[in-house]
Amino acid sequence: MLLRMRFLTGLQPSGQLHIGNYFGAILPAVQLQHKGEAFYFIANYHAMTTMESPRTLRENTRSLAVDFLACGLDPQKAVFFAQSAVPEVNELAWILSTVCPMGLLERCHSYKEKMARGIAATHALFAYPALMAADILLYGSDAVPVGKDQKQHLEVTRDLAGKMNDAFGADLFKLPKPIISEETAIVPGLDGQKMSKSYGNTLPIFGEEKEIRKLINKKIITDATPLEQPKPTENSIILALYKLFASPQSYNDMVQQHKIGGFGYGQFKKELFDAYWEYFRAAREKRAWLLAHPEYVDDVLNHGAARAREEAAKTLSRVRRAVGLA
Ligand code: ADP
Ligand code: TRP
Repeated sequence: MLLRMRFLTGLQPSGQLHIGNYFGAILPAVQLQHKGEAFYFIANYHAMTTMESPRTLRENTRSLAVDFLACGLDPQKAVFFAQSAVPEVNELAWILSTVCPMGLLERCHSYKEKMARGIAATHALFAYPALMAADILLYGSDAVPVGKDQKQHLEVTRDLAGKMNDAFGADLFKLPKPIISEETAIVPGLDGQKMSKSYGNTLPIFGEEKEIRKLINKKIITDATPLEQPKPTENSIILALYKLFASPQSYNDMVQQHKIGGFGYGQFKKELFDAYWEYFRAAREKRAWLLAHPEYVDDVLNHGAARAREEAAKTLSRVRRAVGLA
């Protein structure tokens, strides 16, 4: 029998999603759900390491669920749940932390970088990778699609799985592989740096029409080439973003219009807006439906949680036996 690969990934509910999140994380996850068994969750325990208030945490968790579903997560294909609906993950995190050397966590860039940004150095922030390892190992994941910044956390996960296998039995855990999106998948922000909410240069997936037009018109900086002159195509933010939304034909047309001159940035920006707006039309409509049917979203999450808990229970009973807790 051919075994299906199990993919798992978590997204933190940290605010309004932008198109960098879409092309870098959401779309790849949505595409993978057709290629194996997918487990996707909202990492709300992890978000507590940086969250300002219970209300924000609750609202962001909810809006991420709605937005992920609107963007094509298919609950018939993927098991979709909130991390906190499977509290068993904390028990596994604890067990993993008993074999986790301090040095392994002390080396993690993400922790050091967050401390440097002034985030409180709590035990949870420090132990973040052990909880992430538990997320991954609890569901027997084969492969974990993540951004480059999470690569080290996957190494910690593999390390901990290996240590557990050495200490308690060779077959306790599979060693999961990361699936890292390439450098080319990095979406530029409106200012040309990497798009990121920390840089305030984002284009939201689900913005209001007026807001998006304003962002495109005001925030994308263009040079002063007169309308009739050819425009540079290298490092053009308009072109880089347009390419994500337009057909190859329309993209090539815009490149040509840059090269021959006679077309202004105002027009290119309008075409960029139109292509963006059309690209997310179906998702926007789906989202409006989801917002009007909160009970459907609850159902999806409850159902996903029940399925995830079944899996979690199996792993935990194996692990409890192996370590001498049962
Ligand atoms: P942000 O940088 O806005 O804080 P996160 O770090 O929360 O975004 O990223 C969540 C997911 O979205 C990660 O998988 C990350 O790799 C992906 N992602 C974020 N920004 C981009 C981008 N500009 N291009 C591609 N993927 C991105
Ligand atoms: N740390 C991940 C991030 O910030 C989110 C996450 C938590 C995750 N647990 C995970 C990702 C398990 C993949 C697998 O993006």
